[in-house]
Amino acid sequence: MDRFRYHDGVLRCEGVDLEALAVEHGTPTYVYSRDTFRTHLADLTAAFAELDPLVCYAVKTCSNLHLLHELGAGGAGADVVSGGELHRALTAGIPAERIVFAGVGKSEEELREAVAAGIACVNIESESELELLARVAQSMGRTVRAAIRVNPDVQGHGTPEKTTTGTKGSKFGIDLERVPRLFTRAALFDHVRLIGVHVHLGSPIYSPEPYVTALTRVLELVDKLRADGHEIELVNMGGGFAAEYETGVAPGWGAYANAIVPVLKPFVEGGGRVVMEPGRSIAANAGVLLTRVRYLKDAGPHRVAIVDAGMNNLIRAALYDSFHFMWPVRPADGLVPPGRAERVALPGLSTYDIAGPICESTDYLARERELPRLTEGDLVCIFGAGAYGMAMASQYNSSLRPAEVLVDGEGSRLIRRRDTYADLVEAELGLPGGEF
Ligand code: LLP
Repeated sequence: MDRFRYHDGVLRCEGVDLEALAVEHGTPTYVYSRDTFRTHLADLTAAFAELDPLVCYAVKTCSNLHLLHELGAGGAGADVVSGGELHRALTAGIPAERIVFAGVGKSEEELREAVAAGIACVNIESESELELLARVAQSMGRTVRAAIRVNPDVQGHGTPEKTTTGTKGSKFGIDLERVPRLFTRAALFDHVRLIGVHVHLGSPIYSPEPYVTALTRVLELVDKLRADGHEIELVNMGGGFAAEYETGVAPGWGAYANAIVPVLKPFVEGGGRVVMEPGRSIAANAGVLLTRVRYLKDAGPHRVAIVDAGMNNLIRAALYDSFHFMWPVRPADGLVPPGRAERVALPGLSTYDIAGPICESTDYLARERELPRLTEGDLVCIFGAGAYGMAMASQYNSSLRPAEVLVDGEGSRLIRRRDTYADLVEAELGLPGGEF
């Protein structure tokens, strides 16, 4: 699945020794495998080939320009949810005609930017947004393509409540039964062409069934809209495909495709276009976070390893109780892990809480984790960190956001330098009344 493997007792990414990378770039540092990004995109595209989908990578997942550029070169478009993400996608060279724009709270300025760029589709999430988009496009003398994001009222399988979006009452999308009214309304606007329907159920979804249920509902809606005289060219199935790193085992692309392709094939054969918005399934296992053990101490019954990465670098454990497999880069006693399960069956492991340096009691990356014996200074690799890792990193506690490194075969290059103290204060300096 990915290119992070042990060789002679030391972890490598592709052909690069992670100990050497940590020495070169310091820690904490995110390390990505170029080959994994490319392979995931290619595998997904191949699995869904019968639908010839436009694969719009969800930029929010991991938004480094260099990675976006790689994915764009591999044929991907971009799913963006802000003007900032649109700016990133365009800067990385992703063509506007491969960009779709979702989000419940787009500003007038962001809508203007989307219209100006001439993107593939704006995914509308409320009637007021539709009206604002119509006014914006009219004022610019442009016509914009848009879709309605539908809330199909479907629960994802294994999806945490905190990352569920497609159930009744959620702030995302528009209730199915309210959608026809919007199409009727939009027909009155000269500058908005409503061409499709968008759905995103949440993430991660560990089974194809919720997609089948939701898309069946969406296609019934499409039939109804067409019967009402609307031209529907596009169905966007969103993202949410699971990656293998949490409690569940993710179905492979083949399993998702086997269930989803037959549902959408008639739509495509009738000339319709399918859009997908994968994020996590492409990025999660393409990236790791390298961290070093600063201190070991005992706290009550716990043996605590304080590492140099915290919730400021990878917030998923603190925010969602997410599980990330982690293991020393050079495990003591040669204890290389046989797999990445929550419980590793190896003799001689010790139990640790893995805590970050941030002044918050939720700042743990793992609790009661069985690991090879740790020593201060050891490097630990946190796996499955490529998705919603760096993208959700903050400067909390005025900490410096990590460096990002891209490995390619035997080589590697820095794709984002570590923050500096100057970065921390830059936006506050040089303002009237504040001469420091
Ligand atoms: N499309 C839309 C409209 C979305 O809102 C999202 C994710 C995606 C696609 C991509 O979903 P994916 O394929 O990555 O599952 N921070 C959370 C996940 C939040 C997901 C937000 N939306 C986490 O770390 O688990």
